[in-house]
Amino acid sequence: MNILNEQIRSFLEEEDLIAALGNISACIMMSWENLNWAGFYLVKNGELVLGPFQGKPACTHIPFDKGVCGKCLREAALQRVDDVLAFPGHIACDADSRSELCVPIIVSGQVMSVIDLDAPVPSRFSEEDEKIMIRAAQDIASAWTDHDWSYR
Ligand code: SME
Repeated sequence: MNILNEQIRSFLEEEDLIAALGNISACIMMSWENLNWAGFYLVKNGELVLGPFQGKPACTHIPFDKGVCGKCLREAALQRVDDVLAFPGHIACDADSRSELCVPIIVSGQVMSVIDLDAPVPSRFSEEDEKIMIRAAQDIASAWTDHDWSYR
């Protein structure tokens, strides 16, 4: 297994949702080069609310019909945007962002959160990166059930 996935699994032994996601966001930011933002949005009251993250201050509430993160939530599907400037409706929390990867965390068929990664260069994210983040999202979803986390 990829070392980052192993580290994320170890942080998922933590029983508190925010504490676990805080360390995971820091771990991703430290492990991957060329990121300017790494963190989570959590689903609450039908919208996305800013969760633990590393990077510049970001938008605190994202409606489900807005942005890359909203599309990820709506479609319950990974979004890889190689050029955010060409993505209609992209929300620019940091003007330096050029590409983005957003992965849903799906628990019992419902998106509970999204992992959001931003990069200051176009086409930062590879298929291998996608696989690592899909695995991370699956592991977080399992921990969500095991720890009986709730945020809504
Ligand atoms: N770019 C995202 C918003 C979140 S920030 O990148 C941290 C979007 O379009 O949904």
